[in-house]
Amino acid sequence: LRTILIGPPGAGKGTQAPRIRDEFCVCHLATGDMLREQVQQKTPLGVEAKKIMDAGGLVSDDIMVNIIKDQLENNKSCKNGFVLDGFPRTVPQAEKLDAMLTARKEKLDSVVELEIPDQLLISRITGRLIHPSSGRTYHREFHPPKKAMTDDVTGEPLIQRSDDNVETLTKRLKSFHTQTGPVVNYYKAKGLWHRVDATQAPAVVWDNLRSVFAAKS
Ligand code: AP5
Ligand code: ZN
Repeated sequence: LRTILIGPPGAGKGTQAPRIRDEFCVCHLATGDMLREQVQQKTPLGVEAKKIMDAGGLVSDDIMVNIIKDQLENNKSCKNGFVLDGFPRTVPQAEKLDAMLTARKEKLDSVVELEIPDQLLISRITGRLIHPSSGRTYHREFHPPKKAMTDDVTGEPLIQRSDDNVETLTKRLKSFHTQTGPVVNYYKAKGLWHRVDATQAPAVVWDNLRSVFAAKS
């Protein structure tokens, strides 16, 4: 399976992608998670990326394309395929991905847009809690941890992402609509686009995603 999840901040990409990874034995490449790892390690890229992410902007296409290229070439868990989460976010990124896959004699199976109106995303984003080292995601209201601010599996503390505030969210939504909107049209023109209603509960969204993949294979 080679698929892409596209959707605005809070649509549920990071909630659904691990299910796809586990069901289809593919790698989950989440560019936002990879950047946050660089931020945590205070690498030069991390220091630059933090400023951009906290401002709700986008890191340069060249940097992001190189990150994905490196993963596709070197990450052994990608040999059965992949689910991309947060990439491509611009048309140039989508074009470069196409070129990369063509060179590898590989093809995308599908691109799934997680559709949800902007106004539902505020509570999802401001209530989100994450366990940084595993990427596990919780929500204060919709998916609370068993013990407040504590990861269910490791007992380690949960944190809030520094870009998960209303002000930065507004900017992230704007860059989604202006820069990533055209990516949807790019894949519609190629006949790869599917939509799933992302306002439903996570288990329902998952069922609908599986139907998309089942229909393709
Ligand atoms: P990234 O990490 O990709 O952030 P994002 O796109 O804003 O998406 P989120 O992670 O916020 O949302 P999600 O869809 O994963 O939602 P989740 O499942 O967690 O990117 C961050 C930044 O990095 C970007 O702004 C940019 O600066 C940079 N960047 C990354 N990739 C880049 C690229 N390719 N090019 C350039 N720059 C790049 O769910 C959210 C919450 O809702 C959770 O609490 C969850 O529990 C809850 N929830 C999920 N599903 C449901 C449901 N069905 N019902 C109720 N609650 C739900
Ligand atoms: Zn995410």
